[in-house]
Amino acid sequence: MTYRIAPSILSANFAKLGEEVLNVLAAGADWIHFDVMDNHYVPNLTIGPLVCEALRPLTDAPIDVHLMVEPVDALVPMFAKAGANCITFHPEASRHVDRTLALIRDHGCQAGLVFNPATPLAWLDHVMDKIDLIMLMSVNPGFGGQSFIPHTLRKLSEARARLDAWQEKTGKQVLLEVDGGVKVDNIAEIARAGADTFVAGSAVFGAGKASDAHRYDSVIAALRAELAKV
Ligand code: DX5
Ligand code: ZN
Repeated sequence: MTYRIAPSILSANFAKLGEEVLNVLAAGADWIHFDVMDNHYVPNLTIGPLVCEALRPLTDAPIDVHLMVEPVDALVPMFAKAGANCITFHPEASRHVDRTLALIRDHGCQAGLVFNPATPLAWLDHVMDKIDLIMLMSVNPGFGGQSFIPHTLRKLSEARARLDAWQEKTGKQVLLEVDGGVKVDNIAEIARAGADTFVAGSAVFGAGKASDAHRYDSVIAALRAELAKV
């Protein structure tokens, strides 16, 4: 099993964003998770395509754009142009989920659905062929630093079974990402439940002293060491 660690820059120091991104990547992060909030779909306001475009030249690492916006479609071409690799959205926020998924792929990005804690996986029933990854929220979207909702473990197992069955049938791998409250002390059981890609915001960016250039090395190494036990 290949595991991916995707630090969420929501918890980074925005005054030094480029440096923060370079430092987590140097510390061994695989993806950069980019949280887009619109003060409409979620009660918070963050960053848009301009910031993605500014970060893009710093790295070839995948930028994983998590859209917490409503409506969705207008932002898809903008983020694709800004250099996003994956674009995920919440199905409740799109009038036409199948169309939005196709739009993302048409713009050359990997497409995914995000499931809130109370959103059923049944949204996948008729769109699996248009999906490259799914992401389960293990907190309610809108803020970093919340606690992992334990029921997510059962939902991850259910999602894992669906994705394994899909791979068996079609040969296609769909990634299973988890977002919210992932820490060194719970990442192993989250992986055991079936996740392969882990967003971690406060656990990564909250680590160590701001003055220490290597402050992210030890937390990413600790996350990987836990994953190695699975
Ligand atoms: C929440 C965001 C998450 C958040 C995770 O709406 O989608 O990506 O930044 O932060 P932590 O890891 O602190 O829960
Ligand atoms: Zn996110």
